[in-house]
Amino acid sequence: MFNRFLIPMALNIPMLTRNTFTLKLDNLTVRHGPACPRCLDAEAAGTYMERNRCPFCKTVWALRSVSLNLVKGEILGVVGESGSGKTTLMRALYLDSEPTAGAYYLECYGGGEKNIFSASLQQKQDIRNRLLGMVYQNPHLGLRMFFSTGANVAEKLIAAGNRNVAAMMKRTAELLEHIEIPVSRVREPPRNFSGGMQQRVQIAKAAANNPPVLLLDEVTTGLDLSVQARVLDLVKKIQREFEVTMIVVSHDLAVVRMLAGRTAVMLNGRIVEEGLTDQILEDPRHSYTQTLVNSLL
Ligand SMILES: Nc1ncnc2c1ncn2[C@@H]1O[C@H](COP(=O)(O)OP(=O)(O)OP(=O)(O)O)[C@@H](O)[C@H]1O
Ligand SMILES: [Mg+2]
Ligand SMILES: [Zn+2]
Repeated sequence: MFNRFLIPMALNIPMLTRNTFTLKLDNLTVRHGPACPRCLDAEAAGTYMERNRCPFCKTVWALRSVSLNLVKGEILGVVGESGSGKTTLMRALYLDSEPTAGAYYLECYGGGEKNIFSASLQQKQDIRNRLLGMVYQNPHLGLRMFFSTGANVAEKLIAAGNRNVAAMMKRTAELLEHIEIPVSRVREPPRNFSGGMQQRVQIAKAAANNPPVLLLDEVTTGLDLSVQARVLDLVKKIQREFEVTMIVVSHDLAVVRMLAGRTAVMLNGRIVEEGLTDQILEDPRHSYTQTLVNSLL
């Protein structure tokens, strides 16, 4: 213990305090309901619960001690069946909801040493505006359907402190070009657009301020295959060009296989398996992952 701290100082070597993560999440728990002694004990002991729900007090344990560690430019895939907690995880990471317990660190905030979950409301708003981008599973949560597409993107730019109208219009045009939506449609509201176009507008909005972290929740679900491929290409392009760190949620392993170097498999609010995507596909350990992989073949 002593040696670890004294040797670097004695030899005048910089202390190894540099963070090795871009995003770190420690033991995030999100509970819906009051919990009771029985499920609190069961949770602590890791014993029986009815999937993610307490049979006695009906509390839903949507996330149960979920930890993540992402490095710069990495795409982590998160897969799992419906109700396993994927959206709850993404919304907690985007600071949309209050966690029950856990700590959350970003390298670019407070040197990676301040728990973002305990930041003030204003700080959280600032983190969302400048450091995070989110594509919601439900586009109605991510877009104002009755405002113009330009206004949707500009909202995010203004939130990050931009005031120069000409510069914002230029940036919006650049983003629309990037997502392959004709700039001539900038005044149209997203409700006029197809599902795939809406998801792409969400991506433009999420990426507007070049945030270091992007969170994508089922970004291609419900799209036909050709549109899906274009959206996936767009995501890959953003990652390559800007070295953005991303979490990509999908119930579809094929999507994750295309994007993510590493994958976490969720079941009933827990990560039951995590590793290199190729390894998980070739040699799944957990029985649930085996079922998932088999369904892909
Ligand atoms: N406000 C709430 N009150 C009670 N339970 C909730 C609430 N919000 C979410 N849940 C529960 O939390 C669990 C996780 O839901 P979540 O939306 O995160 O799942 P998901 O993995 O995203 O599913 P899908 O693949 O269908 O999108 C589910 O059991 C859900 O019913
Ligand atoms: Mg979901
Ligand atoms: Zn209970």
